[in-house]
Amino acid sequence: MNLRPDELPHREFYRIVISTVAPRPIAWVSTLSDGRLNLAPFSFFNVVSAKPPLLGFSPSLRLVDGRPAPKDTLRNIRETGEFVVNVVTFAVAEAMNLTSGDYESSVNEFELARLTTRPSQIVKPPQVAESPVSFECKLNRIIDFGSEPPSGSLVFGEIVCVHLKEGVLKDGRLDPDSLDLVGRMGGMQYSRTTPRFELKRPEVHRPDWKDPGPKDAAPKLADGIPQLSKSSIRRSEPDQAEAGIVEVHDSKDSDRNRR
Ligand SMILES: Cc1cc2nc3c(=O)[nH]c(=O)nc-3n(C[C@H](O)[C@H](O)[C@H](O)COP(=O)(O)O)c2cc1C
Repeated sequence: MNLRPDELPHREFYRIVISTVAPRPIAWVSTLSDGRLNLAPFSFFNVVSAKPPLLGFSPSLRLVDGRPAPKDTLRNIRETGEFVVNVVTFAVAEAMNLTSGDYESSVNEFELARLTTRPSQIVKPPQVAESPVSFECKLNRIIDFGSEPPSGSLVFGEIVCVHLKEGVLKDGRLDPDSLDLVGRMGGMQYSRTTPRFELKRPEVHRPDWKDPGPKDAAPKLADGIPQLSKSSIRRSEPDQAEAGIVEVHDSKDSDRNRR
């Protein structure tokens, strides 16, 4: 089946896209304007550049009294040039959802969802204290895609400071179990980050590159699509590894700096 956007009602096409580009991370964005605090989730969100370190998220336009209007988050960012992206854990998923209502600008979603603030170091908007990781961002640029809903904008923010809560680092590495992040699926569904598995990246010998990497490490091709196997997969659940179900290898350094 092949589907084109101009052949389907917009909502149907949109549903296909958001149900298949999933799970999506969620930016829980806190902003401040005229002393008013605002907090809202956005799952059209990702890291978009390593250097400068940029995050991007996309607020769409909404209709207010029949006229297109920016969401409070976007309006505040245009005014102040600052925002904080807080990550969403399973423990605060319900609170995050509560902050997504179409409230009046005067509503403080921190109070509404009984969340507490943690001061930021560099930017003015505070962080969600219940979130284990918060990225303080300064506006890099905004790209506008249209002037009518459901069009929106793409907001790029440069990370100027990251807050990591005590306990999310184990042996100097971020511990995904302590983070317990959630992602958004299509509709009202969410996902957690367990169970997990690891795959080693292929190490390719390229004599034409300055740093050719290990010799003779080109992947061996067999017939058919490669299947997950004991030697290529490392599940992350310790009980399975301990039970000898999977082979454990240390991939700590092999994928450093790779995307
Ligand atoms: C998990 C989740 C993800 C969302 N992602 C987006 C998004 O990417 N873009 C968007 O415009 N709205 C998104 N929304 C809806 C906004 O959170 C909602 O419109 C909110 O009222 C905006 O608040 P604001 O006016 O305070 O900025 C999402 C809602 C939820 C629950």
